[in-house]
Amino acid sequence: LSGLFETKKLADRHVLISAGPTVERIDPVRYLTNDSSGKMGIALAEAARDAGATVTLVHGPVRGTLPAGVTTVAVESGEEMLEAMLAHYEKQDLVIMAAAVADYRPTIQYDRKQKKMDGPLRIELEETTDILRTLGERKSKQILVGFAAETENLESHAKQKLIRKQADFIVANDVSRPEIGFSSDENQVTVYGKEDQIVHYDQQSKTRLAQDLMAQFAEALR
Ligand code: CTP
Ligand code: CA
Repeated sequence: LSGLFETKKLADRHVLISAGPTVERIDPVRYLTNDSSGKMGIALAEAARDAGATVTLVHGPVRGTLPAGVTTVAVESGEEMLEAMLAHYEKQDLVIMAAAVADYRPTIQYDRKQKKMDGPLRIELEETTDILRTLGERKSKQILVGFAAETENLESHAKQKLIRKQADFIVANDVSRPEIGFSSDENQVTVYGKEDQIVHYDQQSKTRLAQDLMAQFAEALR
């Protein structure tokens, strides 16, 4: 692993990472989002940077500090994240979708703050574009990595996502365990690759885990 950093194994490589939640507006002061802290994506960006890569980090509103030595692009909605990822996609060697993209957005986004009215309020939601799947469809040389947050049937759901989104790896974590995942500083994941490759990683800090994951992805680049 130390070889990844000492020899700057990712020098001359371009790495694009998404992190954090997306935000879907209802009106100027209200929105839908999720609990993602962005820590895993930020840790991955730091690991890629330390291995010598040119790193671009596209991020929603994250809770951690943004890393130095990395190009950062702040976005809010899934649509903005999609556009930013596509704008940088072509020249990348490794692309990691660590963001927790909201699956739905309000069908209507109001320009003005909505007033309170009598009776229940119904908000209709429509599906957002699947960014990872869109990147998978446009893949040329890129190694493409997705995440999978599951509370059950981790392996079968992760393998389905690997195929459906044409990813090279899916990093799966069990979000039913509150001590790991979303807001925690630690994580425990299993990586599923094509050709039934499976690698388990023990529970550890997101910083150390990101370094191990980056070493695995760097191997796939050669
Ligand atoms: N993803 C994406 N665009 C979306 C939704 C998800 O790019 N609109 C990406 C995530 O960044 C992640 C992967 O797809 O890398 C899997 O996300 P996940 O939420 O686990 O899967 P979904 O396909 O959204 O399915 P579900 O939420 O029903 O499990
Ligand atoms: Ca989802």
